[in-house]
Amino acid sequence: MKKRIAVFLLFVLMLVSAGCGNTPAQAQSTPAPAAIPASTAIPEAAPEQAAFEKAPAEPTRESKSLVVVFSCTGTTKGVAEKIAALTGAELVDLIPAQPYTAEDLNYNDRSTRATMEQNTPDARPEIAEDISLDGVTTLYLGYPIWWGQAPRIMSTFVESHDFTGIIVVPFCTSGGSGAGRTGETLGEQAGTGTFLTSTRFSSSVTESELQSWIDSHK
Ligand SMILES: Cc1cc2nc3c(=O)[nH]c(=O)nc-3n(C[C@H](O)[C@H](O)[C@H](O)COP(=O)(O)O)c2cc1C
Repeated sequence: MKKRIAVFLLFVLMLVSAGCGNTPAQAQSTPAPAAIPASTAIPEAAPEQAAFEKAPAEPTRESKSLVVVFSCTGTTKGVAEKIAALTGAELVDLIPAQPYTAEDLNYNDRSTRATMEQNTPDARPEIAEDISLDGVTTLYLGYPIWWGQAPRIMSTFVESHDFTGIIVVPFCTSGGSGAGRTGETLGEQAGTGTFLTSTRFSSSVTESELQSWIDSHK
């Protein structure tokens, strides 16, 4: 009887050992993973990198430049064309609803239109067509100096647009006067956007001078 019990216990012991142990036989029965050829193996990403890849993409705004110019006798337009060529920006004319005649521009006669407008701070000459600033991130804004100021139509323009997110780079031409605070004044009138100090150029400004100026705003 004792012998039978001993044989039974030995049998139970063998069964338990076979069931719980990590026997070599069992290890062999697990199919080995197929090796990934080195050329196709994907390196495991570092945890931080993986998190970075999964992070939602921030909305990015592509940079877009535009040149807008008001020019009655072509001097400022000539400078604007050079800026457009150097930056690859589109050039748009700011056209008055009522064009300025030579007589309107005769500053020797104080009763003519342009001079009268400059003497009337709240004069806002109408613009013929709206200019879209959609997607614009840098706006080069050109105008002549009239009696030490930007023409009143520039105020019409800045007061009727939203410059949020736009860097406005003002420039001007004149018979000799400087740009003064014309850029800052336009910025105050706009109330949005970042208006830089205006720069006065002569009609003979060179491409390399303009390029240095453009680069200084990047
Ligand atoms: C009404 C009027 C006022 C002007 N006032 C000034 C002035 O204060 N200082 C100056 O240097 N030039 C003055 N100018 C000259 C213009 O600024 C200059 O000719 C300018 O380059 C013209 O630009 P545009 O050809 O793009 O219109 C004035 C011109 C006009 C018509």
